[in-house]
Amino acid sequence: MEKLIGNKRLKTAVFISGKGTNLLSLIKFSNTKKSPIKIDCVITDTSKAQGLKISKKYNIKSKIINYKKRNLAEKKILYFLNKNQIYFICLAGFMRVLTRNFINNYKGIILNIHPSLLPKYKGLNTHKRAIENNEKFSGCTVHFVNSKIDSGKIILQKKVKIAKKDNPETLSKKVLKQEHILYPKAINKILFNL
Ligand code: GAR
Repeated sequence: MEKLIGNKRLKTAVFISGKGTNLLSLIKFSNTKKSPIKIDCVITDTSKAQGLKISKKYNIKSKIINYKKRNLAEKKILYFLNKNQIYFICLAGFMRVLTRNFINNYKGIILNIHPSLLPKYKGLNTHKRAIENNEKFSGCTVHFVNSKIDSGKIILQKKVKIAKKDNPETLSKKVLKQEHILYPKAINKILFNL
């Protein structure tokens, strides 16, 4: 992995679909002196992603991909990443499933952040399901992406206590706060063995 970085920071693409609060935390992290990554671009499947305002504010180029035909969309993304020599992807609230074909054809590393303590609660509505199941804890996980949904090797997790009065919204806020800390930590862990 050290070889991959050399003395340059790893060119990174962040994939988003929504608010982009994780994107913001990754941008802030990448702007710190010792960060092993440099965010080169933001990729999204929707022009409605609020996170696009954040990329604009920080002068990071963005690419909106029309996802009507997934295979074509993925082809375009792969072409773009290759052309820009981007070998590190952080999925940050990207609400599309990358196909096996994409993952096999991409030459770099793909990470994802998921709002649950995987392997529990893969997929959507994690907070609602955790509360309905009377879980005492929820949390978040950063993991490598493989072709099965939310199933790649886990890098780091952070537990969050679920209070009796929590609803999916309050829990999501608490977990998000931890996500913003966990993602940079996980990147340092795999790229610097920190
Ligand atoms: C985050 O909670 C992230 O873990 C989750 O979407 C939210 C995006 O928030 N991702 C998934 O559910 C992926 N399956 P953000 O746009 O503010 O970073």
